[in-house]
Parts: sequence; C-alpha cells; structure tokens
Amino acid sequence: MFKEYLGSSKQTIEQWLGEILTSPNQEFKPLYESMNYSLMQGGKRIRPILSKAVLEMLHKDPADYKEFLCAMECIHTYSLVHDDLPAMDNDDYRRGNLTNHKVYGEGLAILAGDGLLTYAFQLMTANKKASAQEKLDAIQCVATAAGPEGMVGGQAFDMLSEDKHIPLEELKVLHRGKTGALFNASVELGLILGNADTATRTALMEYANCLGLLFQITDDILDVTGTIEELGKTPGSDIRQHKSTYVSLLGLEGAKEQASSVGKQAHDALNSVSYDTSILAALIDYLLKRTN
Ligand code: IPE
Ligand code: IPE
Ligand code: MG
Ligand code: MG
Ligand code: MG
Repeated sequence: MFKEYLGSSKQTIEQWLGEILTSPNQEFKPLYESMNYSLMQGGKRIRPILSKAVLEMLHKDPADYKEFLCAMECIHTYSLVHDDLPAMDNDDYRRGNLTNHKVYGEGLAILAGDGLLTYAFQLMTANKKASAQEKLDAIQCVATAAGPEGMVGGQAFDMLSEDKHIPLEELKVLHRGKTGALFNASVELGLILGNADTATRTALMEYANCLGLLFQITDDILDVTGTIEELGKTPGSDIRQHKSTYVSLLGLEGAKEQASSVGKQAHDALNSVSYDTSILAALIDYLLKRTN
C-alpha cells in the first residue's frame, strides 16, 4: 500500500513539475532545456513527497500548495547539478543519465542551477492559497534551509573537509547542513501551510532531523554498496574525492547501526503525534531499506 502511495505521489509531483518550466522565448530555450533535463529525468522526489505527506496528515489538499512542493524539488535539483560539477564532486552520471554539465557544458549547467534556485522562489510567491503571512513564513523557512546556514553551508564544509579526518560530531553538522536542512524545510513547509499546533510541530521537527540524517547516512552507505544501475549515479564518488562519510568514519557495519538507531529515534518522535502518522512512519523504513 505504501509502495502505491509513493508511486502515485511521485506521479502527481512529476505532473506538476512538467508544467512549470516553459521558455518565454526562442532565445532562452537552451537554458530551459538544460533545467528540464535535470528536473524531469528520474529522482525519488522524496522532499516534495514529505511535504505532501505532512499536509495530508493535517487534512490539507497538497494540490493547493503545489508551487511550494515543486520549489523544494527545483532547489534540490539545482543542488545536484552544482554538486556534480568538476569543481565539486566531478561526477558523470545522475538520475540514470549523464550529468548536466556533461551534456550542456559547465557554463549552462551553472546557469541551469541558478535558474532552478531562483525560479523556486518565483513559484512560491505565485501561490494563491496561502495567506501573506504563511507565504512569508514558508519562504523564509525554505531560504534559510537552502542558503549558507543550511544546504550551501553544509556543501562548503563537505568540500573543505576533503582529504581530512573530521570527528563524528562535525560530520553530523556537515550532514545536517548539506542534506538535513532541505529535509527539515520539507516537513516545516507542511507544518506552516497546514497550520499545525506547537506540539505537532515540535514532534515532527525532531522526526525531520532524524530522517535527514538517516537519509545521508544511507547515501554514504550506498556510495559503497550500490551499483550504477541501481543508483543512477556512479558509486565510489566519496572515496574518489576523499570525503569524510559515515562509512569512512565508522565502517560499513557501524554506519548501518547508526542509520537504524536514528531510524528508531524518528519512530519515537512520531509516537506523541495525535494525527495519523502511518505514511510518515513507513517513509522511515523505506528510506532505511532503499537501494537507490
Ligand atoms: C541525493 O539526493 C543527494 C543527497 C542529498 C544525498 P536524492 O537521493 O534524494 O536524489 P534523487 O532526487 O532521488 O535523484
Ligand atoms: C550532496 O551530497 C548533497 C547535495 C547535493 C546538497 P552527495 O555529494 O553525497 O550527493 P550524491 O551522492 O552526489 O548524490
Ligand atoms: Mg557532494
Ligand atoms: Mg555528490
Ligand atoms: Mg553521496
């Protein structure tokens, strides 16, 4: 049943994503083609699915807030396009295809990332359902998560930690930034737009914290155990780039133990929530067991 939920949510989100990026003129078409290339091919769509699940838990219709959900996926996709650049992780495959810069060149890949990031904010302001205050709160939440205090901060720390052995506490800060921040924002968006009460917000933000961390621990594990066919990206990237990861610090078994212990914490966080959290709980187990 959860599998169907994931499949139909992905389909709904991809339908919305397919409608947002049309070039305003002939001249800008290559840029839009490059943006759509990365946005529309593959991807689990986990971040918008997370926002969707939180909104549904709060009895809201996610379609009313589709601009925010698409914005999360645009920002995530931009982060991947830039993450793959030669100046960063220098990867050739993403979502089962050649990376953006391999197809369109580095210049257009950088601009496609810039375009996706900026357009996300244009999209959110265009939403008609949220009140002015809700919109402001939601946009502030996304901006803080995506920017230097969140994802960009984590990515910079990741890059500057190459060839270094950093302690586990610092690696946690790195993961919470580069990956956790957008997971937190995906959940928080749902809480803001769904008008959740304080107790629900506190519990679900603890859940989000755990989910983002376990997602990146699993990403570190899959970089060692996965195949290119499963992942759609080349495994071994972290070793090639001399990254600090949960696997490099704790070994494969140690990383797996950490992931499942953080998964338990995420389940515990849901216990106090007075709404139906079955989808959010199933998401934890799906992310722990994923092979891509
Ligand atoms: C990959 O994210 C980058 C990380 C933050 C680990 P995903 O594993 O969600 O990538 P897609 O969206 O499914 O391609
Ligand atoms: C990247 O982490 C996270 C972001 C893009 C913000 P990774 O470098 O581990 O992601 P993958 O493994 O290339 O997907
Ligand atoms: Mg990286
Ligand atoms: Mg990478
Ligand atoms: Mg990785």
